[in-house]
Amino acid sequence: MKDQINHLENEAREDLARIDSAEMAEAFRIAYLGKKGKLTELFKQLGTVAPEEKKSVGAELNRLKQWLEASVETAKQEAPQQVSGKETFDGSLPGIRPSSGSIHLLQQTIQEISTIFNRMGFEIVEGPEIETEFHNFTALNIPLDHPSRDAFDTFYTTHGQLLRSQTSTVQIRVMQNRKPPLKIIAPGRVYRPDTVDASHSFMFHQIEGLMVDDAVTFSDLKGVLHVFLRALFGSETKIRFRPHFFPFTEPSVEVDIQWGKGWLEILGAGSVDPNVFDEVKYDKSVVRGFAFGLGVERIAMLRHGITDIRHFFENDLRFLKQFS
Ligand code: PHE
Repeated sequence: MKDQINHLENEAREDLARIDSAEMAEAFRIAYLGKKGKLTELFKQLGTVAPEEKKSVGAELNRLKQWLEASVETAKQEAPQQVSGKETFDGSLPGIRPSSGSIHLLQQTIQEISTIFNRMGFEIVEGPEIETEFHNFTALNIPLDHPSRDAFDTFYTTHGQLLRSQTSTVQIRVMQNRKPPLKIIAPGRVYRPDTVDASHSFMFHQIEGLMVDDAVTFSDLKGVLHVFLRALFGSETKIRFRPHFFPFTEPSVEVDIQWGKGWLEILGAGSVDPNVFDEVKYDKSVVRGFAFGLGVERIAMLRHGITDIRHFFENDLRFLKQFS
């Protein structure tokens, strides 16, 4: 009987060493201490032991029982904590990083361009997207029956207002409210009833520029645009001024940069037309100025090799994340 007890104790010791979960600890308890457990079976044989040995064998069995009970308790406490079912929590795994937003490529482009003009002393201002006919057309020297109105046509509200089709409206607002000298740029959205395709959108972004003082010349315009375009496209960039027509500038130009073997149109500009100064009640015999306007999408597309303007507005993260 003593041999059986020793044997059982050794067997239990080996089984205990293999326990690594609360379930195994419970299975171990049942195997040894349950109703048909190995120790329970030994207790049942106590009746067959010779009377003079009964006391010491009984004591041995009780000692083994206490040791087994204590061991099961310890094994259960030391087993890894169970979260649910068979899943266990692994605190060493990396966490899940919450996704965070980033600045849209168009806003990045606006910020970059604004910084360049800021360094040249231009102030950044904004104007409303819902405008009056006066600010979008009349004050910009575009009379109601003039054919150039078609080029800047837009959407109208039922209350006689419209969505601005150019940021040139902000030139008018600033001049109405302030006296020269002025050096501003005005970024913002504009709207035109264009059919959407790879290079057209009914909504896009422009940046307007305006400088007014008593001695601003066309050379100043050329100098400012040179500094700007070389800061944006590289210090070797070749720039070309081509005669053009805008109702609100006289003379007017389109400005191109050299691109590969050809030239690419980048912006429109010119000296502020005296008729515009009349509309904002500036003395045209004293003040001089220049203005320019550029399309933000076009610049971002050129710089990043983007071939479809719709990418900017579809909110496809596979596109947007490339510029975050
Ligand atoms: N507003 C003109 C356009 O939308 C751009 C421009 C602005 C041209 C200022 C000259 C001076 O095409």
